[in-house]
Amino acid sequence: MESNTKEKLISVNVSGALPFLEKEPDFKAAAKALKTLREGNGAGNDFLGWLKLPFSYDKVEYARLRVCADRIRKDADALVVIGIGGSYLGARAAIEFLRSPRHSEACPAPKIYFLGNGIDASDVLQVLELVKGKSVYVNVVSKSGTTLEPALAFRIFKELLEKEYGKEGARKRIICTTDKARGALKSLADAEGYECFTVPDDIGGRYSVLSPVGLLPIAAAGIDTDELLKGAAEQAELGESEDPQANPSLLYAAVRQALYRQGKKVEILSCPSESLRFISEWWKQLYGESEGKQGLGIFPASCVFTADLHSMGQYIQDGERMLQETFLAVKDSGVKLAVPSSAENADGLNYLTGMDYADIYACAKEGVKQAHIKGGVPCTEIEMAAKDERSLGALIYFFELACAVSGYMEGVNPFDQPGVEEYKKNMFALLKKA
Ligand code: PA5
Repeated sequence: MESNTKEKLISVNVSGALPFLEKEPDFKAAAKALKTLREGNGAGNDFLGWLKLPFSYDKVEYARLRVCADRIRKDADALVVIGIGGSYLGARAAIEFLRSPRHSEACPAPKIYFLGNGIDASDVLQVLELVKGKSVYVNVVSKSGTTLEPALAFRIFKELLEKEYGKEGARKRIICTTDKARGALKSLADAEGYECFTVPDDIGGRYSVLSPVGLLPIAAAGIDTDELLKGAAEQAELGESEDPQANPSLLYAAVRQALYRQGKKVEILSCPSESLRFISEWWKQLYGESEGKQGLGIFPASCVFTADLHSMGQYIQDGERMLQETFLAVKDSGVKLAVPSSAENADGLNYLTGMDYADIYACAKEGVKQAHIKGGVPCTEIEMAAKDERSLGALIYFFELACAVSGYMEGVNPFDQPGVEEYKKNMFALLKKA
């Protein structure tokens, strides 16, 4: 069974999952969840801004964002992007996928460093060392403007920039992405006169990659954000359909929920490339924070193949049978590398001479899929048409929509994250925050 998308930027194939189901996926429940979402009468309905974002984004602010990104690209050797969770993962995912996981070595300036996503002194010190003597810009991203990890890193980089460039120079190099009115970061930005971009009120962190949260760093990396938004808009149009054959988000949501109800409580997103690692990290936050509540939820895990077949392969094949697997793939990566011939054939690899890496991976993937299905792991396949902005925009929207539908099918509010506050309360008490 394959969904029938218009241009097929995203295809979903559930033929490796359906044979595991005792009954049909509940497509009626998926369509009802979509209707609830679109009519805005479900839980968390004040956080639905992402649904129409690819069409309704603030065009004036977006034009200013593009100008700012161009200025960074022209002036900066290094851009330090400070943020955590939903204020970090989407931008990093897009940049590593469309540029390179080694973008700071492999891509033209500006080098992009992500900070404030932990409390790790060595990480901060290393970036301070790496940007020494360079023209540095900072984009600090925090919707609440009060999150400790990015606030700590920003305090250090604000001081660095003021020391290097003076107050006035620092002002030109610090850009804040935050709430339009509230929070310590907004107050600080207003007091210092920093350029600000807004995280819309009705968009939660993990749904914010297509807002200025993600778009500024992504544009500063030289990625075409017009195309990204275009791909998301195309997918949003498909997402209006209540037919799972036309709307791949419904198909994916219904099948993973059906598997969950049969005890497949862990979903592994298996990716073919390091460049997709942070797409998985973004996906894990999106699904984990949206569905993991009230004692419910599929636990999202991820693997990068084939590397992780040599570490996690044994468990997936043969461990406890609570797994479902979703293979993420790119149809046309646009990259060619053929195996050279060798006169000695000392490594015995001449049987592969002339074969492209992509064709070798295709055999590896098919072998893995067959093995995992045989081992009792239902497999769903998601394929992006190409390694480009349009396909990525479509993938982001596809996953966001499927996540919201899946959350409603599960009976939870997919837009809150009450559990995240628990560690903060303890930490701030231990830190004696006034
Ligand atoms: O999805 C979420 O809401 C969280 O992951 C937040 O994005 C994260 O905690 C960072 O919050 P803030 O942007 O307020 O600093």
